[in-house]
Amino acid sequence: MEEELLRIKNNAISLILEAKSKQELNEIKLQFVGRSGELTKIFKEITKLSPDKKAEVGKKINETKQIVENLINQTEAKLGEKARQRVAHNIDVTDPAVLPPLGHLHPVTQVIEEITNIFERIGFTRERYPEIDFDWFAFEALNFPQDHPARDDWETFFIRQQPDPKHGPVVLIPHTSNGQIREMLNKELPIKMLNIAKTYRRQSDVSHAAMFHQFETLVVGKNISIVHLKGTLDYFVKSYFGADRKTRIRPYHFQFTEPSFEVDISCGVCDGKGCKLCKAGWLELGGAGMVHPNVLKACNIDPNEYSGFASGFGVERVLMMREGLQIDDLRTLYGNKLEFLEQF
Ligand code: PHE
Repeated sequence: MEEELLRIKNNAISLILEAKSKQELNEIKLQFVGRSGELTKIFKEITKLSPDKKAEVGKKINETKQIVENLINQTEAKLGEKARQRVAHNIDVTDPAVLPPLGHLHPVTQVIEEITNIFERIGFTRERYPEIDFDWFAFEALNFPQDHPARDDWETFFIRQQPDPKHGPVVLIPHTSNGQIREMLNKELPIKMLNIAKTYRRQSDVSHAAMFHQFETLVVGKNISIVHLKGTLDYFVKSYFGADRKTRIRPYHFQFTEPSFEVDISCGVCDGKGCKLCKAGWLELGGAGMVHPNVLKACNIDPNEYSGFASGFGVERVLMMREGLQIDDLRTLYGNKLEFLEQF
């Protein structure tokens, strides 16, 4: 029986080494290790042997089977590689290539990059501050009284956790103005900051999403006046919306600026004459003002020596207001519909 086993082994090896194709190899596999293959058959015969012999011959058969199977696998891999090389040889390098689909940045990210470039050109540095922050940074230090409606949980998202003894409860920031406080506490004067972040409010309709973005400027130094504020806003509006757009500031109220303004830009459709879109020739852009003395004091800055201005605008808002862009629902930006996003 052992001689027979040796004969099978030698026969299998020489056949495998001569195999020219995977199909041929498959047939050899069946012939030796298949269900009624030669090695399977000889295994069945060991029942005739004495128990001692049975174990010894059984072991040898298994070893032979292992050798034959390994050789088959190796040869199969080699034949595959040869076939691939044959195909590679036939490739026509003048065929047009199949390009993988290429995506692009989300329109909101594109606008954020553009805004950052515009402000960096005149010396602002983009900073990043927490989007989940303590009440103290989002309201208290910004001169909001305890009972101000913005601090109500109908306006602001509160995180359910133990309030910090010094800085109060934790909120999803409702505006980027918390960055003003953190910047003034952390940086040396003079300051020229641009803070862009996600902001959150409890509202959702065609012009509001619960999550949106704001960009905030803060300039603090000696002799900073409304002139600097107006000049910076003008520069931004002309760079972003176009050289022919005009800016105006209207008196308004914010807790953390005095005086406070609302900033308008001339309507791009009627050029300030008044139309269906703007009504009186102007479109509202966002808020701005001179940093309130109480805010400077909360950040250990002497309001008699230093002054500053700040502004805060919505990123999605300036994106939607740009000429030629007519999005009738701000929430479309976050609908993740490729048909919409691919247009940008
Ligand atoms: N934080 C204000 C808002 O969200 C905007 C603002 C920023 C106003 C800075 C004045 C100065 O409405």
